[in-house]
Amino acid sequence: MSRDSTKKVQPIGLDIGTSTVKAMTDHGRRVIFPSVYCKRLVKTTWDAREKQSEEVIFEGVGQEAIELAKHNDAIVIRPIIEGTIKHEVAVKLVQEAYRRLDVKNPASVVLVTGLPYDVSVKSINYLEQLLGESLGKPLQMAIYPQSFGTLIECGLESATIINIGHSTTGLLLVEDLTVLGGGTEPKATDYVVEQVRNNIIKDYGLIPSTETTRDLIISKEIKVGDAVITNKVDSIYDGHTVVTRKDIEPALTNAVDFLCEKIAFDITELHAQLPTMNLGCVKNIILGGGFSALQNPYSGEYLVRDSLEAKLKRPLTYPDDPLFSEASGYYKMATELAGT
Ligand SMILES: Nc1ncnc2c1ncn2[C@@H]1O[C@H](COP(=O)(O)OP(=O)(O)OP(=O)(O)O)[C@@H](O)[C@H]1O
Ligand SMILES: [Mg+2]
Repeated sequence: MSRDSTKKVQPIGLDIGTSTVKAMTDHGRRVIFPSVYCKRLVKTTWDAREKQSEEVIFEGVGQEAIELAKHNDAIVIRPIIEGTIKHEVAVKLVQEAYRRLDVKNPASVVLVTGLPYDVSVKSINYLEQLLGESLGKPLQMAIYPQSFGTLIECGLESATIINIGHSTTGLLLVEDLTVLGGGTEPKATDYVVEQVRNNIIKDYGLIPSTETTRDLIISKEIKVGDAVITNKVDSIYDGHTVVTRKDIEPALTNAVDFLCEKIAFDITELHAQLPTMNLGCVKNIILGGGFSALQNPYSGEYLVRDSLEAKLKRPLTYPDDPLFSEASGYYKMATELAGT
């Protein structure tokens, strides 16, 4: 066997989310960046002078795309909608993940990734084709229903897994590593953000962006390596009106309560369709996805976790890192597949 590092099998877990791409490879190396692509055709004298050129195309992915998007001639594409690939620039996101993970030889990659439970066969084939063609065929590739990675990460074989993502909440029922059912609930983080934003507009006459509203709700800086996921915002101000994190507490509590009530209802419905209640997937409920870690910044109380536990009337299981649990579980599965 060659000891050349480019020949070494490289397991990768890849979680392409609606708001962020998360990936993990050997030695716990992980990357995260926004699922955004942006390009602009620079024509103005000002940019051209700076770049010493008449017409230049600038393109960027992730944080760089967000910076480029500030120009009004920019084209912004968010290729993942509700967890599914809707535009081929998704390839650029995957290429960026490979670049950041320092993949030397795509042909030696064992790639595990996922798609929502209720996608079409066409979507699965499309993702497989996109990954294979754009990155060079990996040594092996496996696509699992989303949330399966979190189950593996938690070391369980049977559970109902809830994944509160950006625009959808994924639900998956697994018994002895066999998928029994699942679904996609169209309420998630952006539902709560929109409710709070509407309340700010109605009660205070301020019109914040959805990003600012989300930062005010979370009210702490979340950083993974160099990547800033959220900025610490504890009040917003338009020159004469101030809205603080404390001001939005009632609207936020209400919205979280509604979201959790809907999720709890969906789970009860899914469980009711099972032939028996005496199953591991009814007993064990795992809660993951970025928003499941939402805390009150002053008391430290977990808003979503506590509300769901109360509604489901049982203790839930939480992955150590709910944002990365999917990528991390996929990485473990890729390691198994690679036999490393
Ligand atoms: N510690 C935290 N507390 C509260 N919210 C958080 C935390 N970390 C991340 N989030 C938020 O959780 C939301 C969902 O993040 P996540 O990365 O799970 O979604 P996604 O995988 O991109 O979306 P989807 O699964 O719907 O495709 C994001 O808006 C993110 O800002
Ligand atoms: Mg996700």
